[in-house]
Amino acid sequence: MARQQGAVVFSLLAAVLLCGCLPAPAAAGVHLSTLPKALAVTASPKPGQVLHAGVDTVTVTWSLNTTEPAGADAAYKNVKVNLCYAPVSQKDRGWRKSEDDLSKDKACQFKLTQQAYAAGARRSFDYAVAKDIPSGTYYVRAYALDASGTQVAYGQTGPEAAFVVAGITGIHASIKVAAGVFSAFSVVALAFFFVIENRKKNK
Ligand SMILES: *[C@@H]1O[C@H](CO)[C@@H](O)[C@H](O)[C@H]1NC(C)=O
Repeated sequence: MARQQGAVVFSLLAAVLLCGCLPAPAAAGVHLSTLPKALAVTASPKPGQVLHAGVDTVTVTWSLNTTEPAGADAAYKNVKVNLCYAPVSQKDRGWRKSEDDLSKDKACQFKLTQQAYAAGARRSFDYAVAKDIPSGTYYVRAYALDASGTQVAYGQTGPEAAFVVAGITGIHASIKVAAGVFSAFSVVALAFFFVIENRKKNK
């Protein structure tokens, strides 16, 4: 009996293994350290320049580095441009950590654009800093993607040439004024109702 059960279990296991029904282990991503740094990338802000989220624009350019051999970009189909946290804005913030395995990287989490790669051309993109970009220090990285969407090369402006984004999570002057007005109003209202209540009592 036990033997029969063992045989059944064994053949079930064998069937599962043979047909490949077991889920494949999660595929690890491409490692940045294995990618050629073949793209020449620039961003318009000067190092340390302060940009205001929801107001300012960054112009990013990219092209194949002229030192690359001809045909180095034959497999490039698209270019994806990301905004990356510079080390100073990653300190003590595990959720912004850089990882060599790009599927786990959290430093370059803001995607600015993705567009078709143009061989032999220098492309540029004007990125209006989104209102939800948190205050921090950033640089720009561009990935060349192949037909399957896998990173095959990259280029970046930093982290040395990082610029600063002043996010709008900080308290804006007009909000401060409004807060002041409302708190003054609440004090006045409190005093007003206090007086009314006292009058009622006295009557
Ligand atoms: C192009 O690549 C060379 C060699 O890797 C590098 O020294 C140079 O800085 C790169 N140029 C740009 C514009 O990124």
